[in-house]
Amino acid sequence: MVLIVGINGSSRPKGSTAFLLQQALGAAREAGAQVEMIHVMEALEDQKTPYCIQCSTPCSGACSLNNNLGKAYDFLRRADGLILASPVCFGTVSAQLKAFWDKSRILRKEKALYNMVGAGMAVGASRFGGQETTLKALFDMMLVQGTMIVGDGFIEADCGHHGACAQAPAEEDAFALQRARLLGQRVWEVAMAIRILRRHRL
Ligand SMILES: Cc1cc2nc3c(=O)[nH]c(=O)nc-3n(C[C@H](O)[C@H](O)[C@H](O)COP(=O)(O)O)c2cc1C
Repeated sequence: MVLIVGINGSSRPKGSTAFLLQQALGAAREAGAQVEMIHVMEALEDQKTPYCIQCSTPCSGACSLNNNLGKAYDFLRRADGLILASPVCFGTVSAQLKAFWDKSRILRKEKALYNMVGAGMAVGASRFGGQETTLKALFDMMLVQGTMIVGDGFIEADCGHHGACAQAPAEEDAFALQRARLLGQRVWEVAMAIRILRRHRL
């Protein structure tokens, strides 16, 4: 069984981003995956400094030892697939998600996300509020970790050209909810196919 982790980059555990992510993870679960959702606000809750201050180079992982962030990173270490979801904040990813990701330098050192399959999701208050620029930022963040990105699946597997985007409130954006489910299925199918590339993690 593959593990697919969804990361909710919103400060709200029950906001539109979490709702959209739940659709994708639900579809992946129905396809046969084990799924887990991480809320970045919870993961960062017990941090002394909420962002990376580059306390050591190379990173020693000091900020993710025996705390919420460490638990979240352990899920990522085990994952085969990742769905990174963010609210649109001034046309890009949320500060919380960026902080969570900046602190993951230790995962890069471990090559923990290397050859994992990744996809993006973005929710904005506006119809055209910067969802696709946010997806691009999510892709950049994942690429630096060695993650392989999936997007459009074409026609019956159309999960959005770049990934699933919604206008808040996401539960009223029926088209986005369909895209989210298709994206969850797509991440699952690719995660199944590339499990061999993740063997170095076991
Ligand atoms: C600081 C900040 C900046 C925002 N900037 C944008 C924006 O550029 N475009 C947009 O469409 N919505 C913007 N929004 C609105 C959020 O993207 C929107 O409310 C989203 O649903 C929040 O996700 P959540 O419900 O998961 O918390 C912004 C919200 C905040 C808090």
